[in-house]
Amino acid sequence: MERTLSIIKPDATERNITGQINSMIENAGLRIVGQRRIWLTQKQAEEFYAEHKEKSFFPGMIQQMISGPVVVQVLEGENAISLYRGIMGATNPAAAEEGTIRKTFALSIDRNSVHGSDSPESARREIAFFFNHTEIVG
Ligand code: CMP
Repeated sequence: MERTLSIIKPDATERNITGQINSMIENAGLRIVGQRRIWLTQKQAEEFYAEHKEKSFFPGMIQQMISGPVVVQVLEGENAISLYRGIMGATNPAAAEEGTIRKTFALSIDRNSVHGSDSPESARREIAFFFNHTEIVG
């Protein structure tokens, strides 16, 4: 069993499609073992995405992430990290495969509906960023 951190982004909460995204997550065999709807502060968003702070897309991406509420989630399952990256699809929705969350819902690379951890180390850091152990119930 493995856990990964998912964020349903503001472009998706705004369109009221968090339930549809959760269905795709659950239909793929992942279990939502922690979940909270929050509005990120700029400081939180910049800290969460610190590894990208030198990138040209950083300011626009941060503005997008704080433009509305997000749903932060812990997903659990076998190979949860790669399984979730598979069902999310490519970061740029123009390159995402049919049937993936981003192909189905994303509007652009900055409004790409979901985030998922990219490695076990990121998953550990990102889960701890939002959740303490009493908030994760498997
Ligand atoms: P996410 O998986 O949340 O990680 C960083 C985010 O930056 C990414 O999804 C995109 O929404 C956003 N982003 C914007 N431009 C780019 C880019 N050129 N390459 C990667 N990510 C980008």
